[in-house]
Amino acid sequence: MSKADGTDWTGPVGFITPDFIVKCAPDIAERRVHLCGPPAMMDAVKYALAQLKVPPDQIKTEDFAPPKGGPVPADEPEEPTPASAVAAAPTGAGAAAVSAPSAQATVEFSTSGKSGTLAPDQSVLEAAEAIGVVIDFECRVGTCGRCKVPLSKGSVTMEVEDALTAEEKAGGTILACQAKSPGNLVVAA
Ligand code: FES
Repeated sequence: MSKADGTDWTGPVGFITPDFIVKCAPDIAERRVHLCGPPAMMDAVKYALAQLKVPPDQIKTEDFAPPKGGPVPADEPEEPTPASAVAAAPTGAGAAAVSAPSAQATVEFSTSGKSGTLAPDQSVLEAAEAIGVVIDFECRVGTCGRCKVPLSKGSVTMEVEDALTAEEKAGGTILACQAKSPGNLVVAA
């Protein structure tokens, strides 16, 4: 953990250094390493592993894309085609129709009582962050499920929705880090 202040974390604090790796796994050079995390952390740990003479073919990596606005790897498309679409689950007589697309969509966060604009290429998570609405997140690429929120009104597309079960999708749960929409939304956050 690099920022443990204010948490109940009692383990090691700081970045992953060669000394720390050797302390945890003295035989690291004979181990297979599974490496996953933010790009800067991945680079630092790869460098540390090289210093520790871990053969590159023993290092398995999983790359996550950076948050919007960060560098995009040259071999990855910047705007992939959305793979699926999810609409808010009907909620009875009060169920709202899906909003028509508009140039200046809005997203209302009903729990926090705040509203903001939602650009077509902006995720619900990014729109929330822009106006100070807190939605927990971790991977930002649709796999951890930390950013699940209920969609009350509207419909969204999600490029990746691995973290959602069929029941959650049917019930209108979305991944805020992936959800985008050209139309107005209401999200319970
Ligand atoms: S932050 Fe991990 S799925 Fe959205």
